Amino acid sequence: MAELDVATARWLVSTAGLAAVASATAQLDDGADELKVATDLARRTSHSERRAAALSAAVARRRARPRWQLAEDLLFTRAALEQASDPAVSTHRAARLLAHLGSTPTAPGAIADLCAGVGGDTIALAQAAGGSGASVLAVDDDAARLVLLAHNAEVAGVAVTPRDADALTLALPPGAVVHPDPSRRRDGRRVRRLTDHLPSVPALLAAHPATSPWALALSPGVALDDPDLPDDIEVEYVQLGDALVEATVWLRAGSSPPSPGAPGRRTRATLLRDGEVVTTRTGNPADRVRLPVGEPGSVLIEPAPAAVRARVHDQLGREIGAWRVATHRALLTSDTAPPPSPWYRVRDVAAVLPARPKELRRWLRDQGDADGAPLEVELVLHGVDADPQELWRSLGRPPRGPNGWRLEFLRRDRDTISVVTRTRRVVGPDR
Ligand SMILES: C[S@@+](CC[C@H](N)C(=O)[O-])C[C@H]1O[C@@H](n2cnc3c(N)ncnc32)[C@H](O)[C@@H]1O
Repeated sequence: MAELDVATARWLVSTAGLAAVASATAQLDDGADELKVATDLARRTSHSERRAAALSAAVARRRARPRWQLAEDLLFTRAALEQASDPAVSTHRAARLLAHLGSTPTAPGAIADLCAGVGGDTIALAQAAGGSGASVLAVDDDAARLVLLAHNAEVAGVAVTPRDADALTLALPPGAVVHPDPSRRRDGRRVRRLTDHLPSVPALLAAHPATSPWALALSPGVALDDPDLPDDIEVEYVQLGDALVEATVWLRAGSSPPSPGAPGRRTRATLLRDGEVVTTRTGNPADRVRLPVGEPGSVLIEPAPAAVRARVHDQLGREIGAWRVATHRALLTSDTAPPPSPWYRVRDVAAVLPARPKELRRWLRDQGDADGAPLEVELVLHGVDADPQELWRSLGRPPRGPNGWRLEFLRRDRDTISVVTRTRRVVGPDR
């Protein structure tokens, strides 16, 4: 059953609905619990669906505040907010998509935002298209979400064209630029296979065999060699702060990278912070560098997750003279600390020990800070299949705390070792 019906969505965007959401939000801000807010909403409307929708919109609005500048006026449902792209990612993706076109299309439907939801991406596309947004067609098969999308577009000051339709059967104008963001959930459960997305990704690709660029928004878990993706693509792994948040599959976007190899799957890692692109680098898996494997040096180097997913971490390692700690680990090491960079985090290696509780306990006992208090440590597992709680107990329950020491358990090709590391005491740009 849809979380919101069209009649309730229309009420939500009315003066009475907006006032109910604003009041529910203010009460939640004042510390009222949801039951109390729902009871108060009963004074505004006798419809249980309206009360539920107003409460859901209020909860979602509060969650949206840290990321959405206009949150105070936007309307979401809880589920729609969870599914919406982060605005920083939408803005980046829209800017790249429009940049591929050279000139901004103005014909109605020239930019097709398929699976538009409540409009996070639609608004970013319309803004990138110059603000009028007349060329952006926002398609979703959930008519109630489109009612909220129209409201949100108005709040953002862009005029878009909502269309209640199935993205698989809708005929798009010839040459339309396509931006699909299919749902990664089915029956409430997260799905991995591209055929299980809603709508199915291969079905979407088959339905619109256009010649124009596509930006297909997927989860960062998508594998570069997924057989349900076409061959001539770029997969861009996007990291926001420390979190890997998305993979955008670019089709017919002809520019990137300044292709060193033949058509094939290319990669890009992009780091965003505060809505800005911090840096980006491209790779071509066909030209992949393979770093040698060796013993831990004086520093451990943890590449940014986007670099690892885009398989550019070995290239990065070569540039800084690092090697791998194990054949199948992305973790790098070196005897010289590399210069500060957003592409990796560096930790000093204090000791390399066998991963045996008895020896580790002895080592911890022998350390201690200047006052003889035991070291606070954090346990980090790299490919080690162990229960962290049990491991901690086997080490004699050392105090845990954020004072910079880590016991890193590292599964290598033939054994497991423990590397004691601590935060580098160097001032420089972090990720
Ligand atoms: C991940 S959400 C989109 C979020 C949106 N891009 C945003 O940033 O707010 C996916 C959307 O796809 C819609 N959808 C699922 N199947 C569809 C289909 N066959 N045709 C059109 N829309 C569909 C769902 O209703 C849902 O709103």
